[in-house]
Amino acid sequence: MTPRLLLVVALWAVCVSCTGSEGDSHLRVQCRAFRYPIAIDCSWTQPPAPNSSRLMSFITTYRLGVAPEGESRPCLQPTPETPRCAIPEVQMFSLVPYVLNVTAVHPSGVSSTLLAFIPEHIIKSDPPESVHLSPIPGKQLRIQWDPPRSWPFPEIFRLQYWIRYKRHGASRFQKVGPMEDTSFTLRPVRPEARYCVQVAAKDLLGYGELSDWSSPAMLPIPQAR
Ligand SMILES: *[C@@H]1O[C@H](CO)[C@@H](O)[C@H](O)[C@H]1NC(C)=O
Ligand SMILES: *[C@@H]1O[C@H](CO)[C@@H](O)[C@H](O)[C@H]1NC(C)=O
Repeated sequence: MTPRLLLVVALWAVCVSCTGSEGDSHLRVQCRAFRYPIAIDCSWTQPPAPNSSRLMSFITTYRLGVAPEGESRPCLQPTPETPRCAIPEVQMFSLVPYVLNVTAVHPSGVSSTLLAFIPEHIIKSDPPESVHLSPIPGKQLRIQWDPPRSWPFPEIFRLQYWIRYKRHGASRFQKVGPMEDTSFTLRPVRPEARYCVQVAAKDLLGYGELSDWSSPAMLPIPQAR
């Protein structure tokens, strides 16, 4: 996105938010592409309202490009009250941003919140799964994992991985990566130590951000005798 386009989007977003009917009904909208390129998933939260029992519903649309006359399509919501929606088609490497428009409908009026983004910039996969540790002879520790199941095409849109590990009692993690394999051998490990290992993933081409760390895998290494 060129700086000028960014500026236009930023100004426009500010402009819309200041004309929203109720300042306190503003939504915090975020979108994440954890199943790129099948869909983009967006969700939002609203600031706690004094009368939170009042049900709010939402109208969500998106379009490609910032031009207001562009064609708007529905962002798919399970129900009008659910604070999330999915953009079902992703145009890869688009030069213009997507603009999501979430309009909250409440008894005292409506207010719209806009969010502009480029799909590749909001890629963040779920963490890798099934992290598995096995000790192998020669004071080595083998670490294996699977790509996140929610990442649809790991063979086509490949991921790169980072490992962080820590001996029980150590204050800092050691980090290894990036790597493309889904296994790694750590050596040499201390035979009596307990290790805690986590893995994170990122798009191989470097788009978006690193996933959260996987849940920790732990292993007490059997004592060598
Ligand atoms: C909250 O609800 C009460 C009673 O239903 C009403 O009197 C009050 O004005 C409402 N407050 C706001 C901020 O809407
Ligand atoms: C956002 O959506 C609402 C409801 O469909 C519509 O009234 C409003 O004009 C839209 N705003 C923009 C800036 O497209």
